[in-house]
Amino acid sequence: MKFFVDTAETDQIAELNDLGMVDGVTTNPSLILKSGRDILDVTREIADMVAGPVSAEVVALKADDMIAEGRKLAKIADNIAVKVPLTWDGLKACKVLSGEGNMVNVTLCFSANQALLAAKAGATFISPFIGRLDDINLDGMDLIADIRTIYDNYGFDTEILAASIRTVNHAYQAAMIGADVMTAPPAVIKKMAEHPLTNQGLETFMADWAKTGQQIL
Ligand code: E4P
Repeated sequence: MKFFVDTAETDQIAELNDLGMVDGVTTNPSLILKSGRDILDVTREIADMVAGPVSAEVVALKADDMIAEGRKLAKIADNIAVKVPLTWDGLKACKVLSGEGNMVNVTLCFSANQALLAAKAGATFISPFIGRLDDINLDGMDLIADIRTIYDNYGFDTEILAASIRTVNHAYQAAMIGADVMTAPPAVIKKMAEHPLTNQGLETFMADWAKTGQQIL
């Protein structure tokens, strides 16, 4: 499973990137706002830092305007994936931008039918939002499973990018179902390393080691 980091905070991306945990990065207008940075500047900095796809989202609502914005974003670096919303205009923009050889991430996907349309429009990535479905008492993970089945039924090569991952359990379940990629905030990725039995075991080892009176260095 590929790990994308869902943030525009460059220091946090750098820390995970140094560990080899970053296969790509996703941003959105809310994350750009949170960063306080200029979208072109911060996207360029991130794209220079990581080797994999860096999603940068258009903000226009009409297909022609999305295409113009997408072309501008794609010029930032070779590893930019243009992010378009899953609207009819977004699908039109996806078709044109992917036809021009750009990676396209179709975002704000909340149904399997939407994911089917995105694949047919040539999306490189489809981003089903798990957490936001959970927020309205639906099971976001059911959507990941449905899209996996549909894409496998027909051999679509659009990658399933499990998005809006809020918990370590989301990450685990998405991996079990076979999502190609997950994008998660840095804190969730770091939390995946935690287990209470690891902490408990370490405490015992440290206590016993102190009793030996030995040192390694
Ligand atoms: C994905 O590309 C989005 O940026 C992100 O996963 C949205 O997550 P949220 O629902 O927690 O805001």
